[in-house]
Amino acid sequence: MIPDSFKRDLLNRVDIVDIIQRHVQLKKAGANFSACCPFHNEKSPSFTVSPSKQFYHCFGCGAHGDAIGFLMEYSGLGYIEAIKELAAGAGMTLPDFEPRFGKKKEEGGPDLYDIMQRATQYYREQLKGSPRAIEYLKGRGLSGQVAAHFGIGYAPDGWQNLQAVFPKYDDQSLKDAGLVIENDAGKRYDRFRDRIMFPIVNQRGFVVGFGGRVIGAGEPKYLNSPETPLFEKGRELYGLPQARQAIRDSGRVLVVEGYMDVVALAQHGVEYAVATLGTATTPTHVQKLLRQADEIVFSFDGDAAGRKAAWHALEVSLPATLDHKAIRFLFLPEGEDPDTYVRANGKQAFEDLVGRAEPLSAYLLAQLRARVDTNTMEGRSRLVHEAKPILKSVAAPALQLQLLKQVADIAGMTQQEVERLCDLRRSQPGPWQRPAPPKVERAAVKSFELRLLECVLVKPALASELSGEILHGENLEAKALLALGEFVRSNPDLSSEVMLIDHFRGSPFETLLKQVRSELMVLGLTPEQAEGEFRDALPRLERQRIHEQLNDLQRKDKAGALGPADAGLMNALTKRLAALDQRPSGNRSVL
Ligand code: GTP
Ligand code: MN
Repeated sequence: MIPDSFKRDLLNRVDIVDIIQRHVQLKKAGANFSACCPFHNEKSPSFTVSPSKQFYHCFGCGAHGDAIGFLMEYSGLGYIEAIKELAAGAGMTLPDFEPRFGKKKEEGGPDLYDIMQRATQYYREQLKGSPRAIEYLKGRGLSGQVAAHFGIGYAPDGWQNLQAVFPKYDDQSLKDAGLVIENDAGKRYDRFRDRIMFPIVNQRGFVVGFGGRVIGAGEPKYLNSPETPLFEKGRELYGLPQARQAIRDSGRVLVVEGYMDVVALAQHGVEYAVATLGTATTPTHVQKLLRQADEIVFSFDGDAAGRKAAWHALEVSLPATLDHKAIRFLFLPEGEDPDTYVRANGKQAFEDLVGRAEPLSAYLLAQLRARVDTNTMEGRSRLVHEAKPILKSVAAPALQLQLLKQVADIAGMTQQEVERLCDLRRSQPGPWQRPAPPKVERAAVKSFELRLLECVLVKPALASELSGEILHGENLEAKALLALGEFVRSNPDLSSEVMLIDHFRGSPFETLLKQVRSELMVLGLTPEQAEGEFRDALPRLERQRIHEQLNDLQRKDKAGALGPADAGLMNALTKRLAALDQRPSGNRSVL
């Protein structure tokens, strides 16, 4: 973990305007600077950079962050890489640190990242001691260097090998990390046994999951980690951190289907490949990749399953298209995958194929045409009908216009006719503008929890006053508040909300916290106002909770089901409510 003090000094030393100016042309606009947002497609500038707050913020898509966040988002750097780059520019040297996220929790057992790291280390050591596993990898053409580059390991046969690394084998966290399975009788055993292990590393360089392949034949061929608090399959891409430099150098990322494809391609010098994790391509994948590369090439096996997966990838890509970035599709000859192809034909032949991959537009139009008989009126009408949802979801305006023209051409209609039939009116915002990222559902009236969150982000110390008694709601805001409270209590010298946001990066609260902070940019709440607001909202929330509890108890009473403990609770709650009502209400709300 990079010490907070280092990060604070670093952020004090650099100027976010300088950093962003290197990549985006900024214009002075009052106290701030503005530009067209580099993170979404727009014609008028809604991206602002505040030199006084040292933040950037986009009013169009909600992108928001400090200098570190900008480098991560814009250049696709990992957290540590971004800090290193900033530090190098500012003439600061990074202190030695353990690459580990968060602290060990006192009660909750060890940190999940730490567990994954230790397991990775263990599997790697086991590989060294298994001639059979080494033979298998060699047989698949892999060198020791490439295996090490990807951290490939081996989970030996046996039911409880991990006990050697984790003496507290029954700790809940091992189960949470997805490394052990518990059967109905409560007996635990290792999830991965006698398998080649591929660690899945996230953008920040931490192992979040594993893919395990049987040696030789067997079912299932690949076993993946389950979804865990660290690992969401639809977000991660295998090999992305290892490929990052090559993606940046070539401007291109190749998306393949399998772990072995990524590794075999790297072995042959094609280092810009990543793989989806046995799941379909998601919009998150596409967005993530388009931020880091100018061109995505999706590679699919030439069979029916591959064609189906390709069409799905096309559908999820359309809303992310940008006129200055390309998406193409590569279909390998039937029976081949990138691994077999590159091994048989070499790097050059494989890259020739990549170079000839079909542009998204060509693939899309060919597929549409193939669905209908363009020789009949009915067929051409159906073409327009089928094209409608597709055209509507294309975000890149020039691409959409050209596709529209082509569809009109094939259908034998004018552009205006198809435009009208497909509900595409260019003067109106909507299909022509890139939709803003989905927002967390929010009630029209701000909840007390949300108001508290805003206050805590302005003045983190307030979070230490939050307790589970008041915040026992099931909503995300309440959970976020509790987590913030816990974090602030264990880090009392925390000085800025930037550290809070950083700490929860990658957690389920990340989006919520970023959104709240965006709103704060607009609200401009001072720490004093935040404190007043907090003191006002907290007792109100408590009152609300007590009323809810009392209502439940009264219902129980009416049903004649009130126990002696309930009666005591009712009494205590009523007293607490009276005490709360006695207190003068806090400052008037400013939110
Ligand atoms: P190799 O046989 O090792 O070359 O694997 P491959 O990548 O050619 O396998 P395949 O094309 O069958 O699978 C592609 C990807 O799908 C794999 O990398 C896995 O992520 C996933 N996958 C394949 N088989 C299974 C399976 O049995 N279970 C699960 N969960 N995923 C699988
Ligand atoms: Mn294969």
